[in-house]
Amino acid sequence: GQVGKDGYRHYMEKELHEHPVAIGQTLQRMIDPATRRVVLPELPFDPESLPRVSITACGSAFFAGFVGRYWLEALARLPVDIDVASEMRYRNPPLTPGGVGLLISQSGETADTLGTLRSLRAAGQHIMSVLNVEHSTMGRESDVVLGMVAGPEISVASTKAFTAQLTVLAALSVAFARARGLIDAAGEQALVASLLDVPSRATEVFAQGDAIRAMAAIVAEARDVLYLGRGICYPIAQEGALKLKEITYIHAEAYAAGEMKHGPISLIDRSVPIVAICPSTILFDKTVSNLQEARARGGRILAFTDAIGAERLRGIAEVIVVMPDVDPFVAPILYAIPVQVLAYEVALLKGTDVDQPRNLAKSVTVE
Ligand code: G6P
Repeated sequence: GQVGKDGYRHYMEKELHEHPVAIGQTLQRMIDPATRRVVLPELPFDPESLPRVSITACGSAFFAGFVGRYWLEALARLPVDIDVASEMRYRNPPLTPGGVGLLISQSGETADTLGTLRSLRAAGQHIMSVLNVEHSTMGRESDVVLGMVAGPEISVASTKAFTAQLTVLAALSVAFARARGLIDAAGEQALVASLLDVPSRATEVFAQGDAIRAMAAIVAEARDVLYLGRGICYPIAQEGALKLKEITYIHAEAYAAGEMKHGPISLIDRSVPIVAICPSTILFDKTVSNLQEARARGGRILAFTDAIGAERLRGIAEVIVVMPDVDPFVAPILYAIPVQVLAYEVALLKGTDVDQPRNLAKSVTVE
């Protein structure tokens, strides 16, 4: 039936507020509450002997897959290749039959992703898809479907489907790590506990509205914005930059923070705000020194970090959004939320058409 806005100004605003529910429902689908173990559908392959996983997707789903690569490599010790679908489709990478082609798509209808699914199948890969619309063309053509349970997403720019995709990929990585003997039952339960903590921490993010709006006021005045992140939060910087471009028409670029000195540092002055996604994890100190370099060149730093990170960034960052403390494993799921809210708040200030940005479509069914 018809989906309403439930009193919100835009579908995007409503769907941003549905992040906690989308994450929670997706976890309900994938986790057995009695054993605190991840439950996967029956697999046509043994995760223990997988030669490789090839991840492919478009748009925000691609950045979810990029986070998935970090998880599958670090937790499940799997070799992972990732590319946008329009490239993977024609790259013709050498693939060992019996690997997994992992497709990620909200709609299950994106032409480039579907085309890549078919070429990965032709190359002898098992096809596993992470889909919101399970009864879609990609759903029908997959060997295994992992459903995200985000509910209908109407806004053209993806929001809750993105965090639901991350949730599926996190749980999948835990299941593969267990199946490959890299963690024991207690290790699995600890990671599952961190995942189960995310919906309530996600709700707390909405208390940071004032700080996010203070950031938005600065970003809305800019012509160019630089997003920085490291490690598992680098793809979240990319998602932030994409979202800003999509709905505000402000040019944004994401860089791995450590790579800034090899290029974008030459752009930095007061007119180019720098949005940093930097929970206080192992790479935090390195990111801080990157931000100090930017600050020394007049850059205005806007940071998403936790309470410990906020202590270190006082005097460096002009605006800090203080995020709830979470296990670093799940940080990308949580940090995706305020980054999307920032784009939304900037769009409100710019007066752009949030739900129907110019030239963009919800689902791109042509190549
Ligand atoms: C379009 C949408 C994006 C989405 C992308 C991939 O570009 O505007 O929000 O991330 O398609 O869509 P899919 O349905 O495959 O996830």
